[in-house]
Amino acid sequence: MSFPAHRPRRLRRTLAIRRMVAETRLSPDNLVLPLFVHTLPGPAPVSAMPGVFRWPIDQVATQAREARDLGIRAVILFGIPAHKDAEGTSAYVSDGIVQEAIRRLKDSNPDLVVIADTCLDEYTDHGHCGILRDGEVDNDATLEVLARVALSQAEAGADFVAPSDMMDGRVGRIRSALDESGLDRVGIMAYAAKYASAFYGPFREAAGSAPQFGDRRSYQMDPANGREALKEARLDLEEGADVLMVKPALAYLDIISAFRDEFDVPIAAYNVSGEYSMVKAAAANGWIDETQVMMEILTSIRRAGADLILSYHAVDAARGMA
Ligand code: PBG
Repeated sequence: MSFPAHRPRRLRRTLAIRRMVAETRLSPDNLVLPLFVHTLPGPAPVSAMPGVFRWPIDQVATQAREARDLGIRAVILFGIPAHKDAEGTSAYVSDGIVQEAIRRLKDSNPDLVVIADTCLDEYTDHGHCGILRDGEVDNDATLEVLARVALSQAEAGADFVAPSDMMDGRVGRIRSALDESGLDRVGIMAYAAKYASAFYGPFREAAGSAPQFGDRRSYQMDPANGREALKEARLDLEEGADVLMVKPALAYLDIISAFRDEFDVPIAAYNVSGEYSMVKAAAANGWIDETQVMMEILTSIRRAGADLILSYHAVDAARGMA
């Protein structure tokens, strides 16, 4: 059973044949659009992420509507508050920036899936994802605050909360806080394997969330570790996670693939800011074809096993699929 009886090129001869036998398909159904919301009156461009803006609440609703019209079903919200402090209190007030944005989105787009990033780094003046004690992020003290944040987002109407802090036990703590308040319908999309990655660089400009000292290596994962990602994911599942996320995506396709093989829940992958900015920068220099590279990247993340892809390319990609 070999050449010349077998000629694999037959299945690649025309576009119609290639489409017919394609193993991986992209659909706007699988995309989640990240949106930044701030308290200023107009949009502010993020210089390291061409095409990405921080929006005031009313314009976030317009952005979501446009995405929805292209078939994108979900958005994930990040807030840039007017006020930051050591405990990140702006993250859980009922009239906080994200809580208000959730309400507005749900009013104006009732069938949109609204996911709230549940973390403190955009809300703390030190930029870390938790409460500090003696210069370190205190795990268990942080859990109490994260539970308040998740609860406030769920009360505002979020369909999913997405803890991105990597504290131990956060999924379980959040699950019980939601359930005790009658919010058992609200899901948890856990950033199960979130690596301490330099690919988040441009996001930290967008969210104004760079740590003011040190780094996040004592809570986010070491890029050297793959088995540990499975352990993290198992813990999150046991604690009640509905969706498991891998972040970043491109340098971690092996982790996405391992999650797909190992677990039965939906797998999400975050095509993060640095992955987006590299494509934009190379395309701006005329070095690559932006649309083709974007589609190839998204296809590779799907092929690795992700059901959902969070991507700043979501709107352009959905347009390309139309
Ligand atoms: C934490 C959070 C970050 C991202 C998503 N959620 C930043 C971080 O951990 O430093 C990064 C997303 C991206 O780079 O696109 N709130």
